[in-house]
Amino acid sequence: MTHLDAFSLGNRPVRRMGYGAMQLAGKGVFGPPKDRAAAITVLREAVASGVNHIDTSDFYGPHITNQIIREALHPYPRDLVIVTKVGASRGPNASWLPALEPEDIQRGVHDNLRNLGLDALEVVNMRMMGDIHAPSEGSIEKQVTALAELQRQGLVRHVGLSNVTSTQIKQAQRLTPIVCVQNHYNVVHREDDALVDDLARQGIAYVPFFPLGGFTPIQSSALSKVAASLGATPMLIALAWLLKRSPNILLIPGTSSLGHLRENLDADKLELKGSVLAELNAIAGGQS
Ligand SMILES: NC(=O)c1ccc[n+]([C@@H]2O[C@H](COP(=O)([O-])OP(=O)(O)OC[C@H]3O[C@@H](n4cnc5c(N)ncnc54)[C@H](OP(=O)(O)O)[C@@H]3O)[C@@H](O)[C@H]2O)c1
Repeated sequence: MTHLDAFSLGNRPVRRMGYGAMQLAGKGVFGPPKDRAAAITVLREAVASGVNHIDTSDFYGPHITNQIIREALHPYPRDLVIVTKVGASRGPNASWLPALEPEDIQRGVHDNLRNLGLDALEVVNMRMMGDIHAPSEGSIEKQVTALAELQRQGLVRHVGLSNVTSTQIKQAQRLTPIVCVQNHYNVVHREDDALVDDLARQGIAYVPFFPLGGFTPIQSSALSKVAASLGATPMLIALAWLLKRSPNILLIPGTSSLGHLRENLDADKLELKGSVLAELNAIAGGQS
């Protein structure tokens, strides 16, 4: 792996092209998938193709996504880093509920350990609920302290944060080292531009969620125009742009489809430069 296609998560090098497992649960990230065997095939193909960073959570399903990961990949390859998150639980109607008390965080870590079949979790993101898909200010000391305690017990090796502001990141860094930040960011959604650069200077990974727009796929005429000019799909260009944006960006596009997985894994073969890159940078008024 070169410095351009790898980055460290904690003390583990991972390829910048990873995989997000959220799409493997049923509709609404709730219940079992329509085709469990297909989900297992997607995971095995991702790893066979060189993916060594998988993002998950025990509240996907709930439990089901982790159980599928375990069935597909356990015993895990030595170089595979599974990153999970705590901070939410699911209601019986598929709702997303905050689970931010110390006992919730403890339960979340133990649920992940049990369902993934691990003795320790490599990286756990403390997922703050904020405004659901955007952060909101407020102390996160209680939550990060609870996770750092599980780290001291050896159940969690590294701590990351999700859906947080730069003020909250600084607060957390006073409690324990932070190895990654997972926030909403993509070519049309650029609120975190300054944060991406700040984390790059600190050697901290930035892992955008919804790299393709998530539940609402990215729609942009500028993106479609660039894609057409390069004979690629807008989704592939969106991923290639993120790879180009900053070397600390790690990708975790989510898919339940083998075809989409294969397409996404090709994003690092596309080189964006010159006027094409300038056009993409200008989407959403971005400056970089
Ligand atoms: N920390 C957080 O709060 C948070 C929040 C959301 C997600 N995440 C993580 O981030 C990962 C990525 O986010 P995401 O999965 O929600 O959204 P995403 O990666 O932006 O987009 C996934 C959607 O795009 C489709 N897709 C994937 N590849 C495609 C392609 N090549 N062409 C056309 N459509 C394609 C998928 O459908 P198909 O299944 O049909 O391919 C799915 O509907 C998740 O899997 C999860 O691990 C974290």
